[in-house]
Amino acid sequence: MTKLIPVPCFDYVVFGATGDLARRKLMPALYHRLRDGQVLDGSRIVGVSRRDLSDDDYRAMIREALDQFLPEEDKDAETIDSFLGMLRYVAADVGDEAGWPRLKELLEEGADRVRAFYLAVGPDLFTEICAGVGSRGLVTPQTRVVIEKPVGKDLASAEQVNEAVGKVFTEEQVFRIDHYLGKETVQNLMVLRFGNVLYEPLWNSAHVDHVQITVGETIGVGTRGGYYDTSGALRDMVQNHMLQLLCLVAMEPPDSFEANAVRDEKLKILKALKPIAGDNADIVTVRGQYRAGAANGNPAPGYLEEIGKDRSSTETFVALKAEISNWRWAGVPFYLRTGKRLPTRVSEIVVAFKPIPHSIFPKDAGTVEANRLVLRLQPDEGVKQWIMIKDPGPGGMRVRHVPLDMSFADAFKVRHPDAYERLLLDVVRGNQTLFMRRDEVEAAWRWIDPIREAWEASGTPLKPYVAGSWGPSAAIALIERDGRTWHED
Ligand code: BG6
Repeated sequence: MTKLIPVPCFDYVVFGATGDLARRKLMPALYHRLRDGQVLDGSRIVGVSRRDLSDDDYRAMIREALDQFLPEEDKDAETIDSFLGMLRYVAADVGDEAGWPRLKELLEEGADRVRAFYLAVGPDLFTEICAGVGSRGLVTPQTRVVIEKPVGKDLASAEQVNEAVGKVFTEEQVFRIDHYLGKETVQNLMVLRFGNVLYEPLWNSAHVDHVQITVGETIGVGTRGGYYDTSGALRDMVQNHMLQLLCLVAMEPPDSFEANAVRDEKLKILKALKPIAGDNADIVTVRGQYRAGAANGNPAPGYLEEIGKDRSSTETFVALKAEISNWRWAGVPFYLRTGKRLPTRVSEIVVAFKPIPHSIFPKDAGTVEANRLVLRLQPDEGVKQWIMIKDPGPGGMRVRHVPLDMSFADAFKVRHPDAYERLLLDVVRGNQTLFMRRDEVEAAWRWIDPIREAWEASGTPLKPYVAGSWGPSAAIALIERDGRTWHED
């Protein structure tokens, strides 16, 4: 049984308290931590939003949210009541003076405890909220601010946001969330690499042929069309989640698991990414947009229909070939692909090793295939190491490619916590290892911006794909051109 250590007493102030993120993710995550005994008595969650609600109205709203978003087996009436008892509500429009005195008064009751401002709001409000809490003296030495992605929409806007946040908070107080870093299997990638002696000697261009990172979703853009249409898959998924995964696969061993040691190594990878720009962008990237098709066996509308527009140049799918210019990885392509309305929800990292140099087996023994290490991040979290074995049974020598399969659900009979559960408490602990530092976010934009600019300059139209397919056929051609294929289990 894992030992759970309680975190210090806190006041979590959630701006955007009535929004989807707060109701769907943040409140259920904090509930789980309370249920597991990690939240000390007296800790409070202060919801802030424009809606005119009383504490009790807000508690009723969150009771409903917990009912909707908690799995049946996790609902515990007594813990739900204690959790609702932690909630307070402040109606405030950040641009208006009215709500601030009540927030200040509430927070002064817990002046020396850990205080976290969680900005679960659109990025256009980050600056105003930070300036607001700063000018009203709400930032104590024990205060942290949590910023959701997207941090900006390009390098220039990210710098502006970081600058504004930095006027009020030191970098040690800023927690930029990338929820992929809170996923169990993503952290397991670090343990697999740096807690075992097996992989590290092979983890380089001498032995690795290529790496694939796939994040596929079956959902469309749904109600998020307004945001998504100004963003697209490159900004929404590649700039953050996918590049973070790439960094964790490719980084050098940090000398400790301390935040800056890990972040320094990730930053070096971001800086070593070979630029993709100009005509090259059309060769090594593919962008697509889904048309009507199917999702989970049901008819599904196309993207334009979903967002209610006649045209849009926003990509809902991206595949690209990235390269890292350093000694370890020169010549090893990293193929990335992500999209909405793909056939299955799957996030996985595939490290494809090189083939053996020479086969000693007779031709009719079967093909000796190269080893692959597959880390399944979701669903069905686990690790598969594909190896060659002798096909069991008599009748001569035949070889077979099989996975050494470790499904975490089978191996560990524990609940898999949502990424937010770990991240929210890491904020209280003041542990920034799983959060992005300012220079990382900016380095990622520095690599992403020229791709976007090249797409805009070339005017190459988006490639349509049918909802429920693996994206445009050009994405398959992108990898097959190099004599490789996308991994299929
Ligand atoms: C978010 C993106 O950051 O990640 C969404 O904005 C995407 O578009 C989501 O759907 C995917 O997260 P997960 O945890 O469901 O893989």
